[in-house]
Amino acid sequence: MAACELPKTPENERVLSDLPQALQALEQSRDGQGFDHNLDWVRQLMDTLRIGDSLTLRPEATASVVRAYIEHTMYNEGGIHKLYYIGPMFRRERPQKGRYRQFYQIGAEVLGSDHPTIDAEFLEMLALFLERVGVREYKLLLNSVGCPKCRPAFVEVLRQALEKVKDQMCGDCQRRAETNPLRVLDCKVEADQPVIENLPHIIDHLCPECGAHFDHVTKELQQRGVPYEITPRLVRGLDYYTRTTFEMTSDVLGAQNAFLGGGRYDGLSEMIGGPPTPGFGVAIGEDRLLLMVEQAATLKAGDALDVFVAWMGDTAQQPAMQLVKTLRQDGLRVESNYEAAKLKKSLGQANKLGARFAVIIGEGELASGRYQVKDMAAAQQEEVEPERIAAYVKEKSQKGSH
Ligand code: HAM
Repeated sequence: MAACELPKTPENERVLSDLPQALQALEQSRDGQGFDHNLDWVRQLMDTLRIGDSLTLRPEATASVVRAYIEHTMYNEGGIHKLYYIGPMFRRERPQKGRYRQFYQIGAEVLGSDHPTIDAEFLEMLALFLERVGVREYKLLLNSVGCPKCRPAFVEVLRQALEKVKDQMCGDCQRRAETNPLRVLDCKVEADQPVIENLPHIIDHLCPECGAHFDHVTKELQQRGVPYEITPRLVRGLDYYTRTTFEMTSDVLGAQNAFLGGGRYDGLSEMIGGPPTPGFGVAIGEDRLLLMVEQAATLKAGDALDVFVAWMGDTAQQPAMQLVKTLRQDGLRVESNYEAAKLKKSLGQANKLGARFAVIIGEGELASGRYQVKDMAAAQQEEVEPERIAAYVKEKSQKGSH
């Protein structure tokens, strides 16, 4: 931007387009009628006007990493480069839970090979990372978006299919059907979903090389024991992708359910003036990952209790206290009600604390000398002698955890 030029922000553009009208209205109201109102209008516009440097905030870092790789001629070193970054990114999006204008990404990129083993190993690494941070409730969505050789033909097939159905779709889809048909697949409007379900799938239109690449990736994921779901709609918003694309989503996140995403971008280096350098990478949305880690930690804390001893009636208190003590001596994590309570209330508390088992001691149990042991998750219960309860719980817990 040259000195003295106004930054071309959307706010400034609006001021510049409204200002002539506001000034004209002010001029015309000089006799008094509406003058104050029009003066306010002009003042408001002038207050909105921003004069200063134009700043560009990065929305992501894959392109920057590739640019740095080119700038520092890292390709001269040969071989494969594995790089990572952690930092704030900025997007002018409508904020909501899990979607911010400043958010944080942990990114990793592998540059220098288009071998499908890279893709599979990378996805396995992500699964391992998530296991380490205690996150288990998620899905890996997988697709291939082909390459510049096969994608244009698919876009044409899609455009033709859209021609027949676009009138039933939202305004955005109608526009995208002309300008960028692939983005129609991204649409989240509820009413459009049945139409989108029936559109052609890009993986059925891959060239032989892209098809073989995708087959190799999926086969290796199976061999490595990494579960995935092929998701034909996953085309991703950024236009540098080729072949494998993926996202991981979780129901605990709400509407913004993707906590990481990425894929292969074999043509990006050439697009920004570098030598051909295939690449594959991910960006983890750190804010969303933390929401998931918090959620997983809550579940873990809930799991931490082995037994809740629920006793009813004063005569049960003493035997209950005795049982709590012996179970604790046996190394189990145990809680109990401190005063006589109704069974329903005690079981509710056991549930809240995430107890794996509840032991129920009431009049009937005292008379028979066998207590009810309830498996809270399976909603089954069995009668067990007090001295056998610790062994019973340990044995069942071990079976349950395999
Ligand atoms: P992306 O899908 O645009 O990919 O972003 C990756 C992740 O960043 C998303 O899955 C999400 O968790 C998080 N994210 C995106 N926007 C926001 C936001 N406004 N607020 C909070 N979190 C957000 C990329 O950025 C690519 N550079 C990934 C990549 C790396 N592809 C190849 N290498």
